[in-house]
Amino acid sequence: MTKAPLEWGKLAFSYMKTDYRYISHWKNGAWDEGRLVTDNTLSISEGSTALHYGQQCFEGLKAYTRKDGHIQLFRPDRNAARMQATCDRIMMPHVPTEKFIDACDQVVKANWKYVPPYGTGATLYLRPFLIGVGDNIGVSPAKEYIFSVFCMPVGPYFKGGMTPVNFMVSNYDRAAPNGTGAAKVGGNYAGSLLPHEEAVHKGFADCIYLDPTTHTKIEEVGAANFFGITKDGTFVTPKSPSILPSITKYSLLEVAKNYFGMKTEERDVYIDKIEEFAEAGACGTAAVITPIGGIYHKGKLHVFHSETEVGPTTKKLYETLVGIQYGDVKAPEGWIHLVD
Ligand code: PLP
Ligand code: COI
Repeated sequence: MTKAPLEWGKLAFSYMKTDYRYISHWKNGAWDEGRLVTDNTLSISEGSTALHYGQQCFEGLKAYTRKDGHIQLFRPDRNAARMQATCDRIMMPHVPTEKFIDACDQVVKANWKYVPPYGTGATLYLRPFLIGVGDNIGVSPAKEYIFSVFCMPVGPYFKGGMTPVNFMVSNYDRAAPNGTGAAKVGGNYAGSLLPHEEAVHKGFADCIYLDPTTHTKIEEVGAANFFGITKDGTFVTPKSPSILPSITKYSLLEVAKNYFGMKTEERDVYIDKIEEFAEAGACGTAAVITPIGGIYHKGKLHVFHSETEVGPTTKKLYETLVGIQYGDVKAPEGWIHLVD
């Protein structure tokens, strides 16, 4: 088999229809076997809870081609566990971890020709999702569900990838204090469309959300978590019940501590004290590590390391994280799942 004739290095983070996707149905309290299909459309009841009451969720993870040609996933068990936590919050049945990983494996293998080759900078992005379906009208959990995984090759989420971009603090909240901020539900993203649009319109890559209770602490950077490196080299990331628990962020906490002997802290990050950081970044599956050039707040742009150059600590964290993801750097036990 040969690879798809794509300009891998020029890919953006945009939809591309690949050949196969996985689909499985939950009915009468159990999942069916699941199978690969070619149709990228779904036919569902008009009464589906996903359509009316937002009873749905999704995940995002990537497949990487190693130098030796094998393909691996980065911590897929963590995505499965996070989807299960989301399911608990919005009363959907769990997709068991083995089923979740098996679905990802099947989709990667079936779409082998779309998995970007090693060294191109592109990756295969996997999008698992779970929706409440069936004939419903009252506000209560659906009795039937669909779990699906599709994929596409992607390039950088923020333009330029590993080049600094600026963000602006939004007046909107992403999530309520005891709401669904820590769950990966679509409603959180619907609410972010307008703030994102406003930020882009003003010339920023995306917006920074502050905590919804006091509006004094950094929570999220668009669809990514925040981290800062203090002037004395501590890796700091916000702690809050309304932040999405980023797998990349928890991985970076371990990389900073165990690979570089850095001090790490998960704690409040006050927007009025961001000068404590020499460097800052956004991290996530799609964002990888995107250096934050500056943050615009109350009429002023606060620049961290530089608006054009990546800071040295951000650079070494990036190289190690990405090295682990592509199999060039030895991963901690259990972080890598070999697909093929
Ligand atoms: N925060 C939000 C709101 C996200 O959508 C994502 C993306 O998944 C992240 C953070 C980063 O999470 P992860 O590193 O698990 O991809
Ligand atoms: C991810 O990083 O996987 C995300 O979910 C971010 C996004 C594209 C919504």
